Amino acid sequence: MYGNFKLKDEPLILGIESSCDETAAAVIRGEQLLSSVIISSAEEQAKYGGVVPEIASRAHTDAVDDAVLRAVKEAGVTIKDLDAVAVTYGAGLLGALLVGLSFAKSLAYSLNVPLIAVNHIRGHLAAAYLCGENLKPPYVTLLASGGHTAILHTKSYTEFKVLGGTCDDAAGEAFDKVARILGLPYPGGPNVQKLAEGGSADIPFPAALVKNSERMQFSYSGLKTAVMNYCHNRTQRGEQFNPADVAASFQVAALEPLVKKTVECAKKLGADTITAGGGVAANGYLRARLSKECEQAGLKLILPEKKYCTDNAAMIAAEGLIQYRAKNFAPLDINAAAQIPLK
Ligand code: KG4
Ligand code: ZN
Repeated sequence: MYGNFKLKDEPLILGIESSCDETAAAVIRGEQLLSSVIISSAEEQAKYGGVVPEIASRAHTDAVDDAVLRAVKEAGVTIKDLDAVAVTYGAGLLGALLVGLSFAKSLAYSLNVPLIAVNHIRGHLAAAYLCGENLKPPYVTLLASGGHTAILHTKSYTEFKVLGGTCDDAAGEAFDKVARILGLPYPGGPNVQKLAEGGSADIPFPAALVKNSERMQFSYSGLKTAVMNYCHNRTQRGEQFNPADVAASFQVAALEPLVKKTVECAKKLGADTITAGGGVAANGYLRARLSKECEQAGLKLILPEKKYCTDNAAMIAAEGLIQYRAKNFAPLDINAAAQIPLK
């Protein structure tokens, strides 16, 4: 019979992530990260200019065994040693999620260990616990990925409040769209950053912030349209423009409001620590600006390494540990969810 688990203080947890185009597996023992393996189908997806769900699902099917076996081997343990299996059950591409989730269910059942269903976004938040800085709530987090942009107040390990977010596109989505406008290949964010490094941020694009709003709200659709109009109008008139300046100016308009508002929130709430997560938190400009502003405001900044900002399974295992300690285990008939509200 499945159940009746023996719980441990420092459990060995396998994390599995397959929500988009990265098949990832990682092993942690307590807070200590032992291994993290990522097998990406990004190169294949780049041929189509973005993630093709069917290609992602097939790539996960091909890679999931390999990712898990490598993660276990690199951790220096065996499958039988695992005390729990944590897996992303949403949000993401349904067919892609089902590959990791089905694998995790079978493994948890066969080992008779708890299955922990992880919300991908909570995984991004938990990446900050991997920094070895003994992070403890409360703190304020800037979360910016391909699907989400929000500032959150984490009150306890399992509880957070959304302080503000985007009213249209996510920051990462805007980076990907601007990359397409500038003819840069997928994945857009890192390529826009690279191009921006050689440009001047002197084009006055509108900041990605809704002014005079009662709620703190970001907005990326107006900024994206401004970039599109700038490039198209000049192209139509046969005028030259410097794509590096466009990238640099866009980056400032997209990221400055996130930096300023995150620091503002921490000050207002009296929180002394800021963390960041999600793919956009791998951006060099954002990281440098957050560091500077936090230093000036006397706030502690805990920034996960870039490889733990973009999709990975170490963050899923880290969130798995939090849920393990809260004894929040999933039934084996849990389904994947394409969308989970950020609450
Ligand atoms: O967290 P993530 O890997 O996947 C989601 O959960 O969405 O985030 C992916 C997003 C993409 O939109 C990608 O373009 C963006 O993060 N991104 C970046 C950078 N690296 C990834 N955006 C700006 N600068 C980067 N260096
Ligand atoms: Zn993600």
